[in-house]
Amino acid sequence: MRRTGRAHRVMLARGPVWLIPRYADVHALLRDRRLSKDWRTAPGHAFSAEHAAPDVRDLIEATMANTDPPEHTRLRSLVSSAFTLSRAEALRPRIEQVADTLLTGIASQERTDLISSFAAPLTMTMLADLLGIPPADQDDIQRWTEQINTPDGDQRHLIPPAVRNMRHYLTGLLAERRRAGGEDLLSALIAEHEDGQGLSDTELLRMAMLLLLAGYDTTAGFIGNAMLALLTHPDQMETLRSRPELVPQAVEELLRYDSSVGVTTLRYTTAELAIGTTTIPPGEVVMLLLASANRDDEQFGNADQLDVHRTANSHVAFGHGSHYCLGAPLARAEIQVAITATLRHLPHLALAVEPDALTWRMSRIVRSLRELPVIPCHNPSTKPPLAGR
Ligand code: HEM
Repeated sequence: MRRTGRAHRVMLARGPVWLIPRYADVHALLRDRRLSKDWRTAPGHAFSAEHAAPDVRDLIEATMANTDPPEHTRLRSLVSSAFTLSRAEALRPRIEQVADTLLTGIASQERTDLISSFAAPLTMTMLADLLGIPPADQDDIQRWTEQINTPDGDQRHLIPPAVRNMRHYLTGLLAERRRAGGEDLLSALIAEHEDGQGLSDTELLRMAMLLLLAGYDTTAGFIGNAMLALLTHPDQMETLRSRPELVPQAVEELLRYDSSVGVTTLRYTTAELAIGTTTIPPGEVVMLLLASANRDDEQFGNADQLDVHRTANSHVAFGHGSHYCLGAPLARAEIQVAITATLRHLPHLALAVEPDALTWRMSRIVRSLRELPVIPCHNPSTKPPLAGR
């Protein structure tokens, strides 16, 4: 696609969309005001949420992720102070503690799924800490999030009930926080609401839901993708074992190489958009192919090569512009800790199946493995069962 054109009109099951594959276009369009994130600017389109049942639609419209300025600016500014780099750095000791506990439990096992035993609980614990969700409720949240974000083709009917379950749960949680207060982000947002400054009741619900949907399986899934990339590139894994100071830069390279968010959420043209020789009319749906942009040889030398030494790395795995991932500092801290701690605790980690036997969740938004079966402590004196590609 990158070679043959700058804008491709394709038919998806629900209707036509324009796919933009080249880095320069993706990067520029992420900041282009002619592309709206608000489906209300393109009513009647097959992808808009206007056909959803009112109690579902009410929760998924007009969130930070699908509004334009000035609505977007107001919503984002109310939570942005909780997601700064310094806030994420302050959480690092807690991330390390959770990672160490999980990996200590795994080290003695013969075989485990690194996603369900490590990446998922690590990510969910950090989000639950942030939002004040008790440990007993985390499995439910995890299940509903997966049902909404990564439903396999025949599971799409589970989305509305999962949204309703989430709504019911979060309504109760917000009522409890309103009554008892707490140190978490939801309590802080409620306090602002009561000062008359902040979010309305519905906006509070939407915000809580958005943070869970945007923050959980993107990060858990990515830790899986990153570990798979390292397990199938043993030379790169070895480099990081011997030089752990390279981990932050390696995380950027792993995000470029195989991020868990391969395409942006939908954007709508509000005016004619000329891209090279193609003109996209107003009211059309556009998807920017982040994964393709991140492998564009015009931008990155040897783009298909995983190289943890790569430094000039302006990838778009977290997007760009005003909708740049709000949780990027937190995600980076979690991923860096996850990789560093795994390398330290499991020096002889090996894949337990052939890479080709792994299967991926079906989702337009999140690219993640269903499972990552590993042998935590493979005996290094025998040949690794699967030495990688
Ligand atoms: C590896 C993990 C993650 C990846 C790859 C990722 C990727 C992205 C991308 C590409 C966008 C922009 C989408 C677009 O412009 O259409 C985005 C937005 C967003 N992300 Fe993340 N994300 C990750 C983790 C997180 C976490 C941990 C949180 C919060 C706890 C989070 C919260 C958000 C929010 C709220 C937005 C919407 C921001 C806005 O529209 O202003 N993300 N993310």
